[in-house]
Amino acid sequence: MLSVDENEMLTKVDAGTPVGELMRRYWHPVATSQEIKENPVKAVRLLGESLTLFQDRQGRLGLIDQRCAHRRVDLKYGIPENEGLRCPYHGWLYDRTGQCLEQPAETEKTTFKNTVKLKAYSVQELGGLVWAYIGPQPAPLLPRWDLFVLDGVFRQIGTTLLPCNWLQCQENAVDTVHTSYAHGLFGLYAIERRGITDPRKIKSFQRISRPHKEIAFDYVPFGIQKRRLIVGEPEDNERWRTGHPMVFPNYVRIGQTGYAEFQIRVPIDNTHTWHLGYQVFFPGPDVDVPKQDPVPAYEVPIQDLPDFVLGQDLLCWVAQGEILDRSKERLGESDRGLVMFRNMLKEQIKIVQEGGDPMNTFRDPAKNERIDVSMEDRGGVDAYEKGGVRYMNQGTYSTVLDQLDDLMTKGAEAARRARQ
Ligand code: FES
Ligand SMILES: [Fe+2]
Repeated sequence: MLSVDENEMLTKVDAGTPVGELMRRYWHPVATSQEIKENPVKAVRLLGESLTLFQDRQGRLGLIDQRCAHRRVDLKYGIPENEGLRCPYHGWLYDRTGQCLEQPAETEKTTFKNTVKLKAYSVQELGGLVWAYIGPQPAPLLPRWDLFVLDGVFRQIGTTLLPCNWLQCQENAVDTVHTSYAHGLFGLYAIERRGITDPRKIKSFQRISRPHKEIAFDYVPFGIQKRRLIVGEPEDNERWRTGHPMVFPNYVRIGQTGYAEFQIRVPIDNTHTWHLGYQVFFPGPDVDVPKQDPVPAYEVPIQDLPDFVLGQDLLCWVAQGEILDRSKERLGESDRGLVMFRNMLKEQIKIVQEGGDPMNTFRDPAKNERIDVSMEDRGGVDAYEKGGVRYMNQGTYSTVLDQLDDLMTKGAEAARRARQ
């Protein structure tokens, strides 16, 4: 349980708030590359700020204020040009630094335009996502986490706009026991209500519903590693030996055989979160993976009776209310991961307030070539390098099933040949 003030401190993300300032030390995804390819201008909200993302006709990305300085027209209606974005109303043109370059209706000699500059932020593309940094300069490096930069893998990105605060989504990353209930018991109930009788689905949710015998949380360099021992499983298994991490401040890394995923919870404002499931499949080293340009993106719906794991998580977070009132919660012993995470947040807020760089900000390019995250080897980079493992679950709303199936079959065949 937190006090009302503490809850406010850990949830609010506007500029000047403790978490708002902490979050402004990180790069955040603001669009998929697919979105920008389909439409070169996008209205963006990040940490309570409204902005306009655009790609000029030279292919360069810019992130500037939402509204034109002249008569405040929303620039999401702007026209991309060679040098920047032109307001549709009276044609003022802005470049990627927010500088006004042209005011066509003003007399030729005027220097008025030189005095007009919108705010503008750094933006970069990596791994099929467009990333923004809206904090103080100098910006840290855009982290090259393994899943964003590995070659020879197949990717897709599932996104959902959630009507709730970021923290309840991220706290799920250190809530180990919910799996038996949200994904087991509730999963079984959801398919019963929907009349789904697929025995594989029933078996899979029955399997997930097995209770936990033990849970453990460890501080690791990137965040908190959580481990679980399920009733009936031997102690000598990877989920108990290694586990998988909550990557500070707003990622979790999960995986299954031949597949790994970052779930990223981007705080849009105090009551909205953009959830990204960044899914990576490892067909194996001997399989030619076609170039994906852009990485396909799809929308994951929020459902009342979700028959897929992520849908059950999304629903539970939204069901906690716009901003979960932690002054009224009743934590038990199995919630100790939450306490660790909240303490970590407070520690990292203090580091920022004292002028330091918080956890997972990187400034040395040599250490940022590829940042590997260690986890249960079935879903980690180990699996990628060994190759040929078969994926288990590609996500109900996947866009790439057929292509993926073909690749994974080829990977499994190649692995079988290598073993003979
Ligand atoms: S409102 Fe944008 S140019 Fe006038
Ligand atoms: Fe979950």
